Amino acid sequence: MDLKGRDFLKLLDYTPEEIDYLLKLAGELKENKKKGKPLSPRTQPLLNTLAGKNVALIFEKTSTRTRCAFEVAARDLGIGTTYLDPSGSQIDKKESIADTAQVLSCMYDGIEYRGFEQDIVEELAEYADVPVWNGLTNEYHPTQMLADLLTIKEHFGRLKGIKLTYMGDARYNTGNSLMVACAKMGMHFTACTAKAYYPDAELVEKCKAIAEKTGASITLTKDVDAGTKDVDVIYTDVWVSMGEPEEVWESRIKDLKPYRVDSKVMQNAGRHALFMHCLPAFHDLKTTIGKEMGEKFGITEMEVTDEVFKSAQSVVFEEAENRMHTIKAVMVATL
Ligand code: CP
Ligand code: NVA
Repeated sequence: MDLKGRDFLKLLDYTPEEIDYLLKLAGELKENKKKGKPLSPRTQPLLNTLAGKNVALIFEKTSTRTRCAFEVAARDLGIGTTYLDPSGSQIDKKESIADTAQVLSCMYDGIEYRGFEQDIVEELAEYADVPVWNGLTNEYHPTQMLADLLTIKEHFGRLKGIKLTYMGDARYNTGNSLMVACAKMGMHFTACTAKAYYPDAELVEKCKAIAEKTGASITLTKDVDAGTKDVDVIYTDVWVSMGEPEEVWESRIKDLKPYRVDSKVMQNAGRHALFMHCLPAFHDLKTTIGKEMGEKFGITEMEVTDEVFKSAQSVVFEEAENRMHTIKAVMVATL
């Protein structure tokens, strides 16, 4: 498997075998970091060439996990990083994406981009001479998917045939990407939400076509009981994503409250089921936005109850850790 020089913009661009390779590589890097297990003769040479390289990390939206994962992974590999924050560079305001791509390609060996439309990261990749990695756009969050797939694999020992139900806003980056990830890996994806929050119809068709070849399935349902019965993973994300206007909070809370992950949902899924969330999560009032919206709309929890978030079935912090190991694998494979 040779992914050297490849961009990592969305899972649609990768075959199931390539995704599987990245997961195995991430698992190996994790064992190496945590238990000191020596790397295989195939992997070690990939790491030997990385020390002294440099990567640019563009963040047009804020981040904790993705930024830290890139920085720690790079540090472990001997790679230097430059963090460009949402306000501190010329990007977009004074310099086009195409010009930025060419400037950064002269100095860096790879570029991470977190921002708005998917078209922007695709354009960046088109003009850059080095690999570009998508650290989240409105439409997709592919590095998150690798961490989630690795977490699922660690718990169930496989991906094929796993039933995953996504509740909440299934039209955005995390919902879209999970549907693609499940389709690619032969998993059963259900979007359990109000009709207005179903993923884009064109993407659903694309995923159904992939599913036909991999043995996966794609289901869309408004019915919480049917959509969460006996599934292996219940996944949710914030109801309002970064970059969306504040005015949408009221209708989002009203529309998506029936799709909050609570203990009844988890019981319906079964005791073996995992609760997953890409984070950050609004599970209490201990954040500025959570408190403000909670007071305004008279609620104490949003997409997931505090009880489920803190329960033994919740693997949210394992997912967070796996962001680092999987992002490291992407850099090792593509640089
Ligand atoms: N899950 C995730 O992407 O988290 P950050 O926004 O903190 O990077
Ligand atoms: N849907 C969320 C994901 C955060 C990691 C957002 O875009 O804000």
